[in-house]
Amino acid sequence: MKITDLSAPESVKEIIVRSGIVDLYPPQEEAIKAGALEGRNLVLASPTASGKTLVAEFCALKHILEKSGKTIYLTPLRALASEKFQEFKKYTPIRKPNGTRVRVGISTGDYDSNDPWLERYDIIVSTNEKADSLLRHRAKWMNEISLIVADEVHLLNDSERGPTLEVVLARLMQINPDMQILALSATINNVEEIAEWLKGEYVTTEWRPVLLKEGVLLQKEIQYRDGDARKIERKTKNSAINLALSTVKSGGQALIFAMTRRNSVTLAKKAAKEVEEVLSKPVKRALKRDAEKILATGEKTRISELLAELVRCGTAFHHAGLGGGHRRLIEDSFRQGKIKVVTATPTLAFGVNLPARTVVIQDYRRYEPGYGYYPISVLEYKQMAGRAGRPKYDKVGEAILLAKTADEADYLMESYILARPERIWSRLAVERILRSHVLATIAADFAHTERGIYDFFGRTFYAYQYDIGAIKSVMAKILKYLYDEEMIDVSGENINATRFGKRVSELYIDPVSGVLIRNALRRKPTYLTGLSLLHMIAHTPDMAPKLRPYTRELDEIAVFMEDRKEEFLVDVPDEWEDRIAYEESLGEVKTAMVLKTWIEERSEDEIIERYRVQPGDLYRTIQNAKWLLYATHELALLFGNKQVLPQTLELMERIEKGVKKELLPIVKLEGVGRIRGRILYNAGFKTIEDIKHSAIGDLVKLPLIGPRLAKKIKEQVGGFVKKEEWKKLKKEDDWEQKALTEY
Ligand SMILES: Nc1ncnc2c1ncn2[C@@H]1O[C@H](COP(=O)(O)OP(=O)(O)OP(=O)(O)O)[C@@H](O)[C@H]1O
Ligand SMILES: [Mg+2]
Repeated sequence: MKITDLSAPESVKEIIVRSGIVDLYPPQEEAIKAGALEGRNLVLASPTASGKTLVAEFCALKHILEKSGKTIYLTPLRALASEKFQEFKKYTPIRKPNGTRVRVGISTGDYDSNDPWLERYDIIVSTNEKADSLLRHRAKWMNEISLIVADEVHLLNDSERGPTLEVVLARLMQINPDMQILALSATINNVEEIAEWLKGEYVTTEWRPVLLKEGVLLQKEIQYRDGDARKIERKTKNSAINLALSTVKSGGQALIFAMTRRNSVTLAKKAAKEVEEVLSKPVKRALKRDAEKILATGEKTRISELLAELVRCGTAFHHAGLGGGHRRLIEDSFRQGKIKVVTATPTLAFGVNLPARTVVIQDYRRYEPGYGYYPISVLEYKQMAGRAGRPKYDKVGEAILLAKTADEADYLMESYILARPERIWSRLAVERILRSHVLATIAADFAHTERGIYDFFGRTFYAYQYDIGAIKSVMAKILKYLYDEEMIDVSGENINATRFGKRVSELYIDPVSGVLIRNALRRKPTYLTGLSLLHMIAHTPDMAPKLRPYTRELDEIAVFMEDRKEEFLVDVPDEWEDRIAYEESLGEVKTAMVLKTWIEERSEDEIIERYRVQPGDLYRTIQNAKWLLYATHELALLFGNKQVLPQTLELMERIEKGVKKELLPIVKLEGVGRIRGRILYNAGFKTIEDIKHSAIGDLVKLPLIGPRLAKKIKEQVGGFVKKEEWKKLKKEDDWEQKALTEY
């Protein structure tokens, strides 16, 4: 079917055709035949890169242009949200019947706001979590949504993120019963269940734009599913690397999935030597520039140095320990065909669009502490395998599992390649998770009686799959907890949230965190310090990732804990009474120590060295700490604990920037982060006033500050730069490219 034959607004078709898409892909055609453009609810389950987004684009614009509707596009990750936001932006030149242009917005941050400004937008791209928080704030414009697109809906099966998606869908269905739902999914076994839950049709396809060949490598031969076989050269002892090399030599790229961060790094190191040998001169030159970019992004650490070294050889690792800037640089360079081999942890398998001709799955087993090894799910295997084949570049993509014995090869063929993905199951019925959704249901006025609450949860995927009766006892327990902790009031049949309950729900924290913070704030420690607050937030269940102490640092942490106990707002369990709780509490103390080290301006590299906390984890810990300190501030306000307010605010700012108190005034300047801030301060520019009175030439003399940045700084403080002075300075250095990023 041709795009031009579709019953969709001409202006939309024009933009799509101009972008080079002429014919519909088969899954798109099927989705349209199933009534996607007629407002039907639909689950479209189809492989990676089979063009599901385009269906959503058509639907969204049809709603906007023909029904004056509003679309919300939900994704599980912030990175995906910005990717989709970029894609939808191409429609902004289109005029709506009322003469104004289509407006596309994105909203992923700040969980304590109803973002009224979003009302102006026709398409709003958001994450599931943000949408959940918007619903808790009863953002008015959400009642006007006429189309919801739920991307990656198979994530209902994810124990952390699935329940949020489920609740968001159920709530939106409750407030907008006439809204259209379009759910996009990987191929799963029980699509019909999701479709029935959403009261819609479903389309399942196995169609892919690039043919996928799946196989198992045993020694030097790959056996494919279709009976083909192929030998590869055994250049090294490592099969994954041999396979990747054979692809690179024939002009392709390879993605190797390793199960742990450490494995991904080891593999990349081994692969780099081999890959380097087959690189062409121009590619090498381009890679050298990419390596320099890596070094110029963020702080220099042993990790960024290693990464840059590997990138020079056309190889890189990719895992959640890397900072976001580095990950994006790797992804871009790989997409541009410069980096040839990426070794990644499975987190890369969903979300980021990073196809390669060959996907190698190094190990089908995953290790979990306290649990041992277990085989990954078929669904997960298919997600990784689905990354194989770059449309437009590869005729065929291949996904290969590695076997050590013939038996194992048979097992892999049967249990993964020929297997159907598992059914997906609702993960909602866990007390920890349900707790905050029950509170939110009451606090945001979705229900005010026990029946009303059951009625709401009766609309979830959980209730569809199991039976709502099955969570009655958990629910009763949760209601009792919320009542005992004064988050809800009960009078007769009526259940209402208290101010405390309402605020906790809006702050988007676990009720247990709310209680913990409230109780801690009531205590009067001998000294209330920054550490008191950092330790308290580290103790809440919302603090993630959970940092684990390593054996060699156990003593140091225990000593620190003993020393500083008097500052703590939460009790530390006794080592001899409860060993497990004690070790957990050491982890919390470690988190507080890491944050403290960060605001004492120790370098990222030192934090890696001392605590083995990598930049990606540090970043997530910082983000969480900021959010929990904000929540602390808000709860302190509610309970009238005035004395902690200034301290909490100051700590929030210091955590955000990673600086000592004295730097706070000057790191407010754009382009001045913790490193440049320290340089300025130590050179005597301690306040905005000092900088205002400085000569631009004196700023430029400082390390890491070039003329462009110096000018920008001067302009921000309201100073001005003389023309001749500027001309003299304006011999631009190359490295000044990064002047605009914070450092
Ligand atoms: N009809 C078409 N003809 C040519 N290219 C298309 C067509 N439809 C979509 N594409 C292109 O295919 C690519 C993949 O599409 P899309 O991102 O929608 O995949 P997807 O099905 O959502 O996969 P994933 O499961 O990875 O999210 C995009 O670059 C898109 O521009
Ligand atoms: Mg998609």
